[in-house]
Amino acid sequence: MNGIDVAGRIASSDRVVALTGAGISAESGIPTFRDPGGIWDRFDPAEVGTFPGMLRFLISKPWEGIEFLRGLRSVFASACPNPGHEAIAELERLGHLRCVITQNVDGLHQRAGSVRVLEMHGTFARSRCMGCAAVLPATIEDFLCELDQMVVKLGSYMVSHPAHLLRRCPCGGLVRWDFVAFGEAVQCLDEATVEAASCDVMLVCGTSGVVYPAAALPELARDRGALVVEVNPDATELSGVADVSLRGRAGDVLPELVAAVRARAANVS
Ligand code: OAD
Repeated sequence: MNGIDVAGRIASSDRVVALTGAGISAESGIPTFRDPGGIWDRFDPAEVGTFPGMLRFLISKPWEGIEFLRGLRSVFASACPNPGHEAIAELERLGHLRCVITQNVDGLHQRAGSVRVLEMHGTFARSRCMGCAAVLPATIEDFLCELDQMVVKLGSYMVSHPAHLLRRCPCGGLVRWDFVAFGEAVQCLDEATVEAASCDVMLVCGTSGVVYPAAALPELARDRGALVVEVNPDATELSGVADVSLRGRAGDVLPELVAAVRARAANVS
């Protein structure tokens, strides 16, 4: 580990932060965005990367739209937390991890037991009214159910306007999933910035580091004196910022790291 005792630094800290991206959920069966076969490899982000763009795509190409929605459904219906998510939750239970800052919208950190999760790109497990801005709690099951309803509507050829695809809030406004699409403001940015600026160790797991502002957080952490540790099988835009790069899959590397942290704690006591 480049001579740096990563496990030791984590074991002696209660201010570790994990910044995660799609790669941490890859072993749960959710494709990443930019790897071969990933979402932006198969669909054009210029076409479906915004919410109105996605609706236009669904309506103008209903059969491709149905395939897109069914693909989304099958991935999310079967995804479960993997050992990488579980290791991060364990670090929080052990009192070392302050929070997870994630770009993922899949809710798998919470399902693995993580309590403090800052979802910078929102989540599919929540909706919001585009009229009155009410936040409507939901579950991934609700999300799956809505995908099914959209598929039925598209298959019936009855959809000629985005409003036909979406539910309505009691106020009459249209309701959408509370995820952050391209061009929209990220969520929890202030909290994430404070955490990045005050952590001792930042674990940067499974992100290509090309989407801002999340990609700026490791550099902020490093500039404020944190040890930045990248966990990724491949080099990324953030490898140059990281003090240590642990090359491997999150589901292999993180459980090993947590075992080493536990061993340090046992030796100390
Ligand atoms: P990317 O698809 O850009 O990057 C995924 C990263 O995960 C790559 O660096 C892979 O090498 C790495 N990876 C793959 N398998 C892994 C594994 N088993 N363990 C660890 N790492 C692995 O995904 P993100 O960086 O999350 O935003 O993308 C950032 C944002 O771009 C997304 O949140 C999304 C997208 O457009 C919005 O939709 C706003």
